[in-house]
Amino acid sequence: MTDQTITSVSREKRVFGPSAEFQRQANLGSMAAYKRLYRESVNSPEKFWDRQAKDLLVWRKPYTDVLKWKAPHAKWFGGGTLNVAENCIDRHLGTERENKAALIFEGEPGDVRTITYRQLYFEVSRLANVFTDLGVGKGDRVAIYMPMVPEAVFAMLACARVGAIHTVVFGGFSAESLKDRIIDCGAKLVITADGGWRRGKVFPLKPTVDEAVAKAKCVEHVLVHQRCGNEVPMRAKRDIWWHEATAEVANTHKAKAFTSEHPLFILYTSGSTGKPKGVLHTSAGYLLGSKLSSKYVFDLKENDRYFCTADIGWITGHSYVVYGLLSNGATVFMYEGAPNQPGPDRFWDMIDRHGVTIFYTAPTAIRAFMKWGDEHVKKHSLKSLRLLGSVGEPINPEAWMWYHKNIGKKKCPIVDTWWQTETGSIMITPLPGVTECKPGSATFPFFGVQPKVVDDLGHEVPLGSAGKLIIAQPWPSMLRTLWGDDKRFKETYFSDFPGIYFTGDGARRDEDGYFWIVGRIDDVLNISGHRLGTAEVESALVAHPKVAEAAAVGRPDDLKGQSLVVFVTVKSGIEVSDELKAELRNHVGKEIGAIAKPDEVRFAAALPKTRSGKIMRRILKQIAAGQLVKGDTTTLEDFSVVAALQAED
Ligand code: PRX
Repeated sequence: MTDQTITSVSREKRVFGPSAEFQRQANLGSMAAYKRLYRESVNSPEKFWDRQAKDLLVWRKPYTDVLKWKAPHAKWFGGGTLNVAENCIDRHLGTERENKAALIFEGEPGDVRTITYRQLYFEVSRLANVFTDLGVGKGDRVAIYMPMVPEAVFAMLACARVGAIHTVVFGGFSAESLKDRIIDCGAKLVITADGGWRRGKVFPLKPTVDEAVAKAKCVEHVLVHQRCGNEVPMRAKRDIWWHEATAEVANTHKAKAFTSEHPLFILYTSGSTGKPKGVLHTSAGYLLGSKLSSKYVFDLKENDRYFCTADIGWITGHSYVVYGLLSNGATVFMYEGAPNQPGPDRFWDMIDRHGVTIFYTAPTAIRAFMKWGDEHVKKHSLKSLRLLGSVGEPINPEAWMWYHKNIGKKKCPIVDTWWQTETGSIMITPLPGVTECKPGSATFPFFGVQPKVVDDLGHEVPLGSAGKLIIAQPWPSMLRTLWGDDKRFKETYFSDFPGIYFTGDGARRDEDGYFWIVGRIDDVLNISGHRLGTAEVESALVAHPKVAEAAAVGRPDDLKGQSLVVFVTVKSGIEVSDELKAELRNHVGKEIGAIAKPDEVRFAAALPKTRSGKIMRRILKQIAAGQLVKGDTTTLEDFSVVAALQAED
């Protein structure tokens, strides 16, 4: 992070407040109300969260403590029990929401399904009964490797219902990545589909599961949803068709209650070292955080139709497709496929046809829409939209303005929401009826969140200066640990500033107190809004028989935010060639998944290192970006290595 980049991001001076019309109907409609609630939430967090937990959640047994905090371990709502699925489904039954659409699904080929809350109850109950028959229950791990179809949501909720812990693995990850995750958490059931539709073709999933499960002894069963009808091999006894298993069981299910801190899910995410980490979220606190934030950040109203473009394989899909929205009784629109299938106006077409009112997407997608051209947007009215959101990476002011004018027609507030897999729910964000937005700034903290920008010693830096972003107080939806590795949990998040959560992001506050997130300051890349650890890519590369050493760095990219550049030295006697570049790209794709395929592979005779042998990524970053190498190079072991790399440019 350089001071220069931060200045260029936060130079923006334009301010956009909510319209009087929006403000009038908003769930929270004044800055004074926000300030009052916010102050209470950070000054008397237990009082604030106690009230929210009582108002928003259905408890089977009331809790006795709001928070027990022994850094870095938080216990929220101790003594209480509840069922998360019951909070997302059953509580709406017997109310006017019973026959309301919980999910409206559109497949890529154009098939549409509406699932009411009542039908959701039947679907999830059937699956919960299947789980019980298969011996899957409290505390068991279930891996979900599915396309973006309603069955993926049913699967998550059925896990919550029986107290099993789900780990959703994004369908774009390779067999190797899936296997690692299955083994790490010891999943005994894997839920998948024959395939999903993507860009007009069937994207097979079951063969990938077969490859992964062949090496994962913990798996007892594979439950297969038939989505596309493509031919898939089924292994006797192990593999079960979803439609066959669910046809034989009751469509009602009595949910058991679990303690507030019962694990709800594990979600693997990239870190700066080693393999992806299993971020663990638990029940009550996570549900409360995702529910409260959905209500205020998306200003949810009974007749909203909410469309979030994230896949459920990411945290955004967990909190803001499933848990936060369904617990509020909202109608969620879900789409299976690519945004440009059959044409670049697919989203706009669906928004008009389904009357979508709230649209939540990522800056990388917005930049793609900009590139595809305004004419595709203009073909549709988008008149149903009333609120827009952005997540995943800093949104550049140009993209913000384009989104505001072309999609929001200058009338929809934009919520630029900053948060992380680890935080479970939105942390820094505008509130749509309240906040005067500056394009590119995530603005102010959400309730109960106390972010600070600090120097290396943990002292708050003056307004206008850059620093590290920490969260000074525990919050209900925070991660509880890393699955099976509490030591890594402490080291990763609570050791830079003992006892205080460090986000890994850099930020600055401007003279008006607005937060501007700069991005990761560790060795984590953000490519098209997806997190990728440089160490993961490097270890995949060095596992290739022809590679001696590798270094992965991010390069600024107009579309993807960052693109992935890898520097590779080959073993002696190996000829470098364009074919080898392609081979290495494919190799990384196979090891991790298509999202990790390097955009550029560069061969080098040697990599720049410190005298103690550490690769100097800072220098490679500058070389990848085509910049002159600046800064301290005195620790370099051999400057000629840098000169050689630069000469190639
Ligand atoms: O660097 C921040 C960036 O994405 C990281 C978290 O990635 P992940 O856990 O995959 O979750 C993404 C979806 C919540 C953060 O550390 N990030 C996320 N949202 C924003 C953002 N950076 C700037 N502005 C945002 N709105």
